[in-house]
Amino acid sequence: MSKLLPLLVLVLLGLNNCSGEKKNHEAALSPVQVDELLHRVCARCHNLDMPPKTSDDEKAPPLYTVTVHLKDWMKEDDPSVLRAKFIDFVADYVIHPSRKKSYCDPASLKLYGVMPSLQGQITPAQARAVAATIFDRYDQMAMLAAVKERNRLARLPAWQQVLETRDCRLCHIQGKGRLAPGFEEIARKYARNKTASLKKIEKAITEGSRGAWPKYHTPMRAYKGLTPQQLEGISRWILQQQKQ
Ligand code: HEC
Ligand code: HEC
Repeated sequence: MSKLLPLLVLVLLGLNNCSGEKKNHEAALSPVQVDELLHRVCARCHNLDMPPKTSDDEKAPPLYTVTVHLKDWMKEDDPSVLRAKFIDFVADYVIHPSRKKSYCDPASLKLYGVMPSLQGQITPAQARAVAATIFDRYDQMAMLAAVKERNRLARLPAWQQVLETRDCRLCHIQGKGRLAPGFEEIARKYARNKTASLKKIEKAITEGSRGAWPKYHTPMRAYKGLTPQQLEGISRWILQQQKQ
């Protein structure tokens, strides 16, 4: 009985139509746990990127495509009803998929075959949390925003892309460096001899840094794989920060 009890609770929650209960149920997993499941389980067959990536030997359509089509094919105008319907459908489908239930068009079903059941690889609660996440994450507006952001980044010089996409500014916060010296402080320290400083800064980035700033007790890790142009661009930019 003790083994059956959690199952019984899940079934009861699943049958309970009160949306508050359902929200709770989905929130049982953290975003990190849901991402872990998406990458470990779903990504074996579905590409997870947005914009989606397709390939000739893919085992299933990208999850973006699947999600956006499903939302469309469910033909439900009320967004909150659609969300609930979507979660119910997907949570059931990943464990009990079938040709009859699938919204997938016949040609694609023939090409990919019906999705194999994930029974034993994902619990009903996990399936609901994953379904809620993909519903919220994959939509046309989010896709437009992602494409816009990608285009904005693509127009920046390569060194600036590094500063915008890597975690430098998590620690090097302008004016309030609690985790690391602000870039303006670093610029001040190195203001005297710019040519020698460029090399020193590049070295700190590629090899990491410890002990150069006794006020900060944590060392900085090394950033490998940056091109000489990127390193020089970042270092020049850091040295210019003093003036601002
Ligand atoms: C072993 C491969 C495989 C794995 C793993 C997999 N899928 Fe699928 N999935 C497929 C295939 C193939 C299809 C297309 C055929 C179909 O609709 O059944 C599909 C279709 C779907 C559909 C669309 C159903 C419909 O009605 O068209 C959803 C939603 C879906 N998958 C969600 C997921 C989620 C969420 C995960 C991870 C928890 C996952 N899949 C893991 C192979 C997989
Ligand atoms: C986890 C926090 C953290 C991140 C992320 C981080 N740094 Fe640092 N950085 C530090 C700390 C702490 C120091 C001071 C270390 C020391 O005392 O030598 C430092 C020092 C530096 C220095 C000065 C080195 C010197 O010789 O004075 C430069 C330049 C620098 N970081 C650039 C970067 C760049 C560029 C990035 C991103 C690619 C980055 N940091 C990411 C924490 C971080």
